[in-house]
Amino acid sequence: MPCDEKLLGCYVSELLGERRDSATQQPKPAKRLANIELSLIRQINALATPLSVNLGIGEPNVEPDETLREFAVRAAATGSWHYTANPGNVSLRRLIAGENGFDPKSEVCVTAGTEEALFSIFQAYVDPGDEVLVPNPGFLAYATLARIAGATPVAYELAPRAADWRVDVDALLRKITPKTKLIVVNSPSNPLGSVIDGETLQRIANAGPLVVSDEVYREIWYDAPPPSMLGMSENVIVVGGMSKSHAMTGLRLGWVLAREAVMKPIVTAHQYIATCASAFSQSLAESILSDADWNRSWLERIRAQFRTQREAALFSIERELDATIPPPAGAFYAFVPVPACDTVTFAKTLATDAAVLVIPGVAFGSLGEGFVRISYAASIEDIGAGIERIGRWLRAAGR
Ligand SMILES: Cc1ncc(COP(=O)(O)O)c(C=O)c1O
Repeated sequence: MPCDEKLLGCYVSELLGERRDSATQQPKPAKRLANIELSLIRQINALATPLSVNLGIGEPNVEPDETLREFAVRAAATGSWHYTANPGNVSLRRLIAGENGFDPKSEVCVTAGTEEALFSIFQAYVDPGDEVLVPNPGFLAYATLARIAGATPVAYELAPRAADWRVDVDALLRKITPKTKLIVVNSPSNPLGSVIDGETLQRIANAGPLVVSDEVYREIWYDAPPPSMLGMSENVIVVGGMSKSHAMTGLRLGWVLAREAVMKPIVTAHQYIATCASAFSQSLAESILSDADWNRSWLERIRAQFRTQREAALFSIERELDATIPPPAGAFYAFVPVPACDTVTFAKTLATDAAVLVIPGVAFGSLGEGFVRISYAASIEDIGAGIERIGRWLRAAGR
């Protein structure tokens, strides 16, 4: 090899060296992913065996009925397979906007699930050095999305007073600094199943910073529809989607609603992340939302199913785990105190020794330690058998 080529080779491998992990020689991931791992939810689910009862799952145990399948066939047969406009088909945006006074052309963006909606918002608004207020306990993606954007997640604590996990708005307001870019609110909550009242939401909407209201569980409620933050102030960005309400987790259909000026950079971020949500899923969502009567009866049916499953879960939790919690007002999770101070080890042991999957509460923030999230998006048999296995394991361990 001529000398200069050899030199060039050394130079290139030196350069590559800087880009490789010295121990594994694998390419180094970007710094923004440092200390970010697959979520504990995924880690626990990875311990599942064919004999496991899965109460760790975060998706509805609901299959499409005949009408929903017909809608899907129609969407596949007649819907377009081409790119849609970046923020989605305007006919679908019109249905999502409904009668809420939001302009379908400029104030609605259809996304590849609520997760992509959140990612687009964080990419649009959060800079390195910013702070993002996130609930503790709360959905773990919020803090991770803040970190990926180079910001610091700052937890606002939910008070477990009588285990109803209220937002202490005064304490939340005290956490706002000049660096606070976003406040994230989630009602109904994953992992708590709690719902935030309208007055509290309005105070947060008026706080000053942009507010992201994650309402992906809004259609899953038991006594009364949860209040929405939509329209509470110019600063509010509402995200939602069809993963939970229509058991469409794999079809990736979500949305953002925000005032035009706030929406513009979100659509720009969304364009570079996803281009547009799946055209098929958009056509399907349009059929669903156009058939208001069918949609109403579908939602009533799945609420009734989850209500029955909630009762079964609360009954077994009280009988087997000797714990009484207030009935969750929405979503399909029970956040249950357990006699273990390291719930990660506890949940991993339950997965391997008792063949039941639950999520350690600390996966949702420090205040979740001492709790596990039990999902009752499972059959009545699995709910009973899974919680009974936890109780049996605890009794055998003398706890
Ligand atoms: C609170 C919350 N927000 C957002 C998401 C993401 O939902 P999607 O499937 O619409 O991306 C989830 C999923 O579990 C969730 O629990």
